[in-house]
Amino acid sequence: MSPITREDIGEIAVLSCDYPPVNALSHAVRKGYIDHLDAIRSDDAIKAVVVRCEGRTFHAGADITEFGKPPQEPHLPDVVMALETFPKPLVAAIHGTALGGGLEIALGCHYRIADPSAKVGLPEVHLGILPGAGGTQRLPRLAGVENALDAILSGRHVKMKEAAAWGVVDRLAGDDLKADAVAYAKEVVASGPRPTGDIELDGAKYDEAFFANFRKSIARKTRGFFAPEQCIRCVEAAVSLPLVEGLKKERQYFTECMQNPEAAAMRHLFFAERQVARVPGITKETKRRDIKKVGIIGAGTMGGGIAMNFANVGIPVTVLELNQEALDRGLGVCRKNWERSSRLTADDVAERVKYLSGTTNYEDLADCDLVIEAVFEKMEIKEQVFKKLDEVLKPGAIMASNTSYLDVDAIAAYTSRPSDVLGLHFFSPANVMKLLEIVRGKETADDVLATCLDMAKKIGKVGVVAGVCHGFIGNRMLSGYGREANLNVMKGAMPQDVDKAIFDFGMPMGPLTMADMAGLDIGYFNRQSMDRNSFDTRATDWLDRLVEGDRKGLKVGKGIYDYAEGSRAPVPSPEVEAIILEESAKLGLERTSISAEEIVERSIYALINEGAHILDEGIALRASDIDVVYVYGYGFPRYRGGPMHYADAVGLDKVYARLQEFASIDPDNWKISPLLKRLAEEGSSFAAFDQSR
Ligand code: 3HC
Ligand code: NAI
Repeated sequence: MSPITREDIGEIAVLSCDYPPVNALSHAVRKGYIDHLDAIRSDDAIKAVVVRCEGRTFHAGADITEFGKPPQEPHLPDVVMALETFPKPLVAAIHGTALGGGLEIALGCHYRIADPSAKVGLPEVHLGILPGAGGTQRLPRLAGVENALDAILSGRHVKMKEAAAWGVVDRLAGDDLKADAVAYAKEVVASGPRPTGDIELDGAKYDEAFFANFRKSIARKTRGFFAPEQCIRCVEAAVSLPLVEGLKKERQYFTECMQNPEAAAMRHLFFAERQVARVPGITKETKRRDIKKVGIIGAGTMGGGIAMNFANVGIPVTVLELNQEALDRGLGVCRKNWERSSRLTADDVAERVKYLSGTTNYEDLADCDLVIEAVFEKMEIKEQVFKKLDEVLKPGAIMASNTSYLDVDAIAAYTSRPSDVLGLHFFSPANVMKLLEIVRGKETADDVLATCLDMAKKIGKVGVVAGVCHGFIGNRMLSGYGREANLNVMKGAMPQDVDKAIFDFGMPMGPLTMADMAGLDIGYFNRQSMDRNSFDTRATDWLDRLVEGDRKGLKVGKGIYDYAEGSRAPVPSPEVEAIILEESAKLGLERTSISAEEIVERSIYALINEGAHILDEGIALRASDIDVVYVYGYGFPRYRGGPMHYADAVGLDKVYARLQEFASIDPDNWKISPLLKRLAEEGSSFAAFDQSR
């Protein structure tokens, strides 16, 4: 049975699509449209048509599950063209989210009416493609070139008030969208069809300089991506060519996008983000605990940012500090951050501040439903805090640690209720970064985990479940990545060579610039407490020498790089280069030129290899979870889909062969993951591994 049904209301035919969950424009839906239009075309009793959807939303786009498979006729652009050229007026009735192909269907209709709460958008760029069913040609005609570029390049969901102001919809509906759409259709019978493609754009206004400026304005955000440039080219075509010619260009650029690895990578992430919530033992039926009040211990770098997340969504949050001064400082930073945000009005800030309070007294946290500890990374201090929390918190309260590396099971054991304890590892800045590692201890109760998964969503985070180990998923993988970067410097590359190679690969910054930003002294002190046989000192002795020479990083104006007064821009340092040469010589290493490709392989393959160990040990549930961690927590380029997807794209056989070469030189540093070896030998992939479980 077709997912599209027809109901005739007088002389108006109402086409309703019912294809859960989001009325995606699958083959059956597209065919349904063509079949119904054919029937209505020759039905003299019908004078106009309403196009609408049942369920939670208007069409949310093309059916992404069909991408990468052989396309089946009728194609979506042909359906939209069939709508636009239909001889009787068509009214789209929009509710929920008309996205991508969904909006393109609406743009193909001659008139549009919408529920005021609906949103529209062309989010294709987030899938590494472009609106390929006429969106790049019709939206500029209807909404104006500037607005269309904004929508297409940002992929954002545009609220109806704004969309209506752009002219995307003609009318807002009252309480009954369907009835209002039918009434509107009756009205437009007299006006007849009004094809969007007939609108002419003022080509002269949008000249080369206009588009050059636009390209410049988004260059930083779109560095390394393929699809955004193709989107812009399409809009250029819309401005300069008649609809049919513009559509041909759109098809050409769409096909190029589809063939680019970026599309597969971004599609992988789309599904990966939705997979993370699927966790063994957790179902819809799993009980949840109410989170009505939250406590945070420590108002430092992390505690303040974490608190902001809760106040942002209207959950009262109380921050506890050692003394009033530290508390005032921490809460002051939260306020300043809100005040600095261009998205917030003074009223928005006041509203948030209302939900934020402070204390130095544990008793004030007694009625909290969730308390997150973010004090110094020292087990003795965590012990004191958790013992105290155990004493004061009401039964059923969830206790979480934001520790980066420490053993969450050991922390849980300081309490009399380890099943209420877990890790909630936020990333800095905690009010901005979308990743939250949810660390499931060996005794963490299912309802505690389920509650925190829901809570992550509520505060706008992507929650990824990790098991307990040193550094969980993300930070554990970083150690090999950093080690290789540092070793490359000893073996022949200069810091700027390493950083440039990794930056050009697509990371937000190179590992050595990142180390300077974090402060070299952090790693230094950490190493002081470690057994020197437990890590490769060749990679770190030169850094220790920098710290001992007071080059602690950006905060003191000099580290691996020099920094001009008040500047954050790293400048290669002759002093450091001399130290590097001396330290290399001391190690007896013969410096050779290391290609950018090898620099990337060493650091990125170290990530992949550790990721495979983590997967094998069950610390991560899926390879795709690791990808989500790296994209959201560490800025791994989305267009590469995360380290594990990238490994699949390169080919595990190739990655494995290279790992073997590295292991033959530095066997202690490169313990090749047995899982990676097996998958490579079987000609398999991490994606296939995920699917097999
Ligand atoms: N195709 C296939 N499945 C889709 C889909 C799509 N376009 N959009 C969502 N789904 C699926 C999800 O995978 C999920 O499946 P699951 O339950 O099995 O995991 C289910 O629908 C519900 O999705 P969400 O969990 O994301 O539900 P939300 O309510 O949180 O969000 C939404 C709804 C805002 C519609 C969100 O799903 C979304 O943003 N979807 C993608 C929209 C999109 O990118 N559209 C453009 C597609 S490309 C295109 O149209 C090309 C054209 O120009 C030619
Ligand atoms: P920080 O040094 O900026 O802040 C710690 C705060 O805790 C200080 O304000 C201090 O006064 C307070 N504090 C110390 N002992 C306390 C106690 N007994 N009771 C109440 N308050 C106390 O440290 P930061 O960076 O915020 O780190 C906190 C935790 O978060 C650590 O476990 C760290 O590993 C983790 N983390 C840090 C990240 C970062 O990028 N800084 C990222 C993710 C996790």
